[in-house]
Amino acid sequence: MFKKTILCIGAGYVGGPTMAMIANKCPDYKVLVVDINDERIAEWNSGKPPIYEPGLEELVNTNLNKNLFFSGNVAEGIAEADIIFVSVNTPTKTYGKGAGKSADLKFWELTAREIKKYSKANKIVVEKSTLPVRTAKAMERILHAGNPDVHFEVLSNPEFLAEGTAIRDLNTPDRVLIGGNETDSGQKAIQELIDIYSHWVDADRIITSNVWSSELSKLVANAFLAQRISSINSISALCEATEANVKDVAKAVGMDSRIGSKFLNASVGFGGSCFKKDILNLVYLCEHYGLPEVAEYWEQVVLMNDYQRNRFVEKIIQSMFNTLAGKQITLLGFAFKANTGDTRESPAIYVAKSLLDEQANIVISDPQALDYAKKDLADCVGNIEYCEDPYTATTGSHAILIMTEWNEYKDLDYKKIYESMEKPAFLFDGRNILDHANLHKIGFNVYPLGTPPLLNI
Ligand SMILES: NC(=O)c1ccc[n+]([C@@H]2O[C@H](COP(=O)([O-])OP(=O)(O)OC[C@H]3O[C@@H](n4cnc5c(N)ncnc54)[C@H](O)[C@@H]3O)[C@@H](O)[C@H]2O)c1
Repeated sequence: MFKKTILCIGAGYVGGPTMAMIANKCPDYKVLVVDINDERIAEWNSGKPPIYEPGLEELVNTNLNKNLFFSGNVAEGIAEADIIFVSVNTPTKTYGKGAGKSADLKFWELTAREIKKYSKANKIVVEKSTLPVRTAKAMERILHAGNPDVHFEVLSNPEFLAEGTAIRDLNTPDRVLIGGNETDSGQKAIQELIDIYSHWVDADRIITSNVWSSELSKLVANAFLAQRISSINSISALCEATEANVKDVAKAVGMDSRIGSKFLNASVGFGGSCFKKDILNLVYLCEHYGLPEVAEYWEQVVLMNDYQRNRFVEKIIQSMFNTLAGKQITLLGFAFKANTGDTRESPAIYVAKSLLDEQANIVISDPQALDYAKKDLADCVGNIEYCEDPYTATTGSHAILIMTEWNEYKDLDYKKIYESMEKPAFLFDGRNILDHANLHKIGFNVYPLGTPPLLNI
């Protein structure tokens, strides 16, 4: 009854939403998502997805058990599938050669071996995970080793969605990129993938290239995005020193149509599972190919991000009379960005740990990320409280840090909060989202980013 079966290996932030969208747009395809994490699969099947993403729950429930299925049986899924997307995690390697920079491909290779083991007929294998250039070639070699009867065509189809806006991004992507071999079977496989995306994406937004250009494009896109954040953050330091205002500078610069206004908000720094890992992966590749100047250029984007986080913590310590010991500090937000519960590489983790080192008592508040925050700080020594309600979380605090740009933090009753706090009350806006002049009027000592502080005492 279905035209074809699509399998996705890896039911995470990419696999789950992407497959829910394909199932929704392509009722003629059966879409099966498998994962080795049985708990995750059970959550997807419960109709309450394991990740928070606006619009995701509705999308999953519209299609669940119609043409969208989640299962823990990887072998069965592989055997049944015509097209296999692989969206397993590819974290930075923590051991051996390339530790701290190159991508750890152990999950990826394991998947390749499983695909080879359980495939009895020709299949298209699609890289959805972000991978180093030439990984598809390595995968082809693994898949074809000693398996001459079954042909695998490996495509690269990197995912450009952003957490927090994943459903919108998947529904109206800026582009869909498909990389494939320049052989007849490669071009045929590309067409099969185009047929799927054509169900809802305009033809002029579906672009094709060879496999390595596609793999590299994903790393470069993330490097460019992160570079903009580091660029404006570097200027925020200069603005604070010179009494310029980074918001005014960003506006003036961003109105140049050659530059554009997006990704020019100064902040405590970028986080998320991808930016740092993908840039370091790019750096490693450049080093590997004997291009040290190029490697250093991109590594600076990550170093600038570290600098910005350190600067934020140092500013807190310095302005609170050089001691945080015994003081209560509330972090409003823990997710790495708004509209997600994901805390991977969140600057809040680094800031929280630094405050604990200074013997501050910390209170963490977030509308979606408290479960992950507890796991992230499980090994930390010190006083940590978790509290969803921002009013309770800030009562009795000496300082508030805005760590995530949740919209709801813009609309809090800061007068009420100020009255419940210890005085002098400090507010450090790590996302530059609040009305600083108003906070100053209420009585706070306000520390925006990229402009001098507004002090009451
Ligand atoms: N998160 C994002 O915003 C984003 C955006 C674009 C691209 N990516 C890339 O997509 C990939 C996946 O990222 P994610 O955030 O979805 O990761 P994730 O950790 O949320 O999900 C990966 C899933 O793969 C599963 N898995 C690992 N090995 C497996 C195996 N052998 N068989 C079956 N399942 C297995 C894990 O259990 C996990 O549930 C990464 O390469 C990442 O760089 C992520």
